[in-house]
Amino acid sequence: MDISLTGIRPTGIPHLGNYLGMFRPALRLARDHEALCFVADLHALIDVRDPAAVAARTRELAAVWLAFGLDPASAALYRQSDVPEVCEAMWLLSCVASKGLLNRAHAYKAAVAANRAGGREPDSGVTVGLYAYPLLMAADILAPGADVVPVGRDQGQHVEIARELARAFNGVYGAVLRAPRAAVDPSVMTVPGLDGRKMSKSYGNAIAVFAGPDELRRSVMRIVTDSRPPEAPKDPEADTVFGLYREFAPAGDVRAMRARYEAGGLGYGEAKAALFEVLDEHLRAPRARFRELMADPGELDRVLAAGAARARELVAITVGRMRAAVGIA
Ligand code: ADP
Ligand code: TRP
Repeated sequence: MDISLTGIRPTGIPHLGNYLGMFRPALRLARDHEALCFVADLHALIDVRDPAAVAARTRELAAVWLAFGLDPASAALYRQSDVPEVCEAMWLLSCVASKGLLNRAHAYKAAVAANRAGGREPDSGVTVGLYAYPLLMAADILAPGADVVPVGRDQGQHVEIARELARAFNGVYGAVLRAPRAAVDPSVMTVPGLDGRKMSKSYGNAIAVFAGPDELRRSVMRIVTDSRPPEAPKDPEADTVFGLYREFAPAGDVRAMRARYEAGGLGYGEAKAALFEVLDEHLRAPRARFRELMADPGELDRVLAAGAARARELVAITVGRMRAAVGIA
């Protein structure tokens, strides 16, 4: 069976952009792939420097996966740091990786551009961890032999770098690594946040997936819309409220809502109320399950240990081949 693999950094409770861009496609792929899902705690160390927060958020994210319905009996859920062979694979990849490839990675380029704009040295404040981020991510993907990687659009470049590194390694040592492909859900692409920019933790424009009903309602009411009055026809495609509604409501309701936007006579307040209802209904059960899981740390630990054991079995095969290929078996 083909392997689907994805990870997410433990930097707080995920938002709807994470859910639609990554969790939902990953959970769908888990139905007919061997699914590996992990909490990228090593990647979080780049900017989370509080040890207690790293531990707590890692546990929290594991609970999020399970609350959304990942079945630990058929999928492996693990902490990245519980599979240390991935770091070994990262080194082996780094020895065939061209530095120029990493120079072109978005996050590094953005840090350099911000430094230039601020009149600082280009690499000011850039850690080697930030620079090497795509290398570790390539190792996450290549070491277990992943075929498909469900991620949001902004991670596509990283998967492309993993492909490039598989080619580079195979170019030197023969056909050792499998080239993965990104699975970006085309209907979702980039989910907009409350202010219309990409929904992101770092922009403070996100709707947290497990917000209680009151907070959820307040967030939905804060979504920025244009200033058309209720009677005016509206363009559903240009509106964040409709964009989110479409992802959660049944198809018939979406068609009806679209027609009401286009006909005029629908105020944004009413559209927001409909969005709140459908979100709350969708998220109510996972929210409750999340709270239960967080109250049972023993069960989380058991699931994570079993997931790490499965991931290590797979990683041992490929890293064993990589070691043999380079001459250190
Ligand atoms: P953030 O930008 O909030 O820090 P992350 O970078 O941790 O989010 O992203 C985790 C996963 O969720 C990645 O696969 C990413 O592509 C996806 N993702 C994040 N924000 C969005 C969004 N607004 N729309 C679609 N997918 C997203
Ligand atoms: N870089 C991803 C993000 O920010 C997280 C991640 C780490 C990941 N390793 C991965 C995603 C491997 C997919 C596959 O969201």
